[in-house]
Amino acid sequence: MKILITGGAGFVGSHLADKLIAEGHEITVVDDFSTGRYSNVAHLEGRSDFRLIVDTVLNAKLMEELIRDSDRVFHMASAVGVRLIMEQPVQTIETIFRGTDIVLGFCSRYRKRVLIPSTSEVYGKGTSVPFREDDDIQKGSTSKHRWAYACAKELDEFLALAFWKETRLPVVVVRLFNTVGPRQTGQYGMVVPRFVKSAVNNEPITVYGDGEQSRCFGHVSDVVEGLTTLIETPKCFGRVINIGNPEEISIKGLAEKAIEMTGSSSEIEFIPYEEVYGAGFEDMKRRVPCIDRANELIGFKPTRTLDDIINDVAAEFQDSKSSTAESA
Ligand SMILES: NC(=O)c1ccc[n+]([C@@H]2O[C@H](COP(=O)([O-])OP(=O)(O)OC[C@H]3O[C@@H](n4cnc5c(N)ncnc54)[C@H](O)[C@@H]3O)[C@@H](O)[C@H]2O)c1
Repeated sequence: MKILITGGAGFVGSHLADKLIAEGHEITVVDDFSTGRYSNVAHLEGRSDFRLIVDTVLNAKLMEELIRDSDRVFHMASAVGVRLIMEQPVQTIETIFRGTDIVLGFCSRYRKRVLIPSTSEVYGKGTSVPFREDDDIQKGSTSKHRWAYACAKELDEFLALAFWKETRLPVVVVRLFNTVGPRQTGQYGMVVPRFVKSAVNNEPITVYGDGEQSRCFGHVSDVVEGLTTLIETPKCFGRVINIGNPEEISIKGLAEKAIEMTGSSSEIEFIPYEEVYGAGFEDMKRRVPCIDRANELIGFKPTRTLDDIINDVAAEFQDSKSSTAESA
């Protein structure tokens, strides 16, 4: 099949490209490199079954051509990362909402299967874990920029479900919980690569807040397996489905684990959220997915643990450290 991956030079999108190419599909990636990196897809360049287009999903004319010519669309392009969202709220809202509007509109016109990734952030201030797809949702005030990401993604969900309702567009909406693995950068505030990189370099690990907040981390290869199965399963169309790993750990526990597993001499430092993100920053204490729906629909079950994730991420940093040392 011909498969279009928007944001395919990003973390999840590039793993998706690798898997789909290995399965024999033809892949087109469109990415503006705002948070993605050429190095994520450099190994695919030159193949006859891979095409990279450096452009934005806001280019409607281009998107129409690419979607018309595809059998499947994975719309992974988005503004991501708490830091980026706090610093560039306009770009965040416009990329997410206008980008998805364009993609869904053309997928509907040309009747293409499409996957829209949403996020566990849409569960907002919910405290009753695990989070289920049909839970009521409460978010913070519009004056708190961190909620712009969640609200824009929620609007994407509404639009996708509206297209399903009105036109039976074959669309599946996936709420991704924290997804981690090689190629993810810590640059935009992602916690696992940030901690593991510091641990590998024996530098202090900085925990925001008291570290008692907890998260669940899914390995990117489990997530990508889930995404590719969902888009091929018609009973998932018009549904919102959590994908993640319910194994929970506090952020302080994560820092300790990163130190222990890498044999690091790093110290843990704590800094208040306000110092990083400004006064009034709101964070969620816990975020645990209920994955019963994904399990019932596609038999989804994570196969990789947090230890596997830390090992894989540490191996990547260790490799790049030794190649830097060799070329110095
Ligand atoms: N990784 C996670 O933990 C996680 C959690 C929840 C949801 N998600 C969602 O999964 C998707 C992929 O996220 P990721 O972690 O791979 O992030 P990423 O930043 O690595 O990937 C996003 C990609 O989109 C590209 N992009 C951004 N704006 C664009 C535009 N206007 N036109 C073309 N390309 C553009 C970026 O350059 C990047 O390559 C996003 O929709 C994100 O919201 C990810």
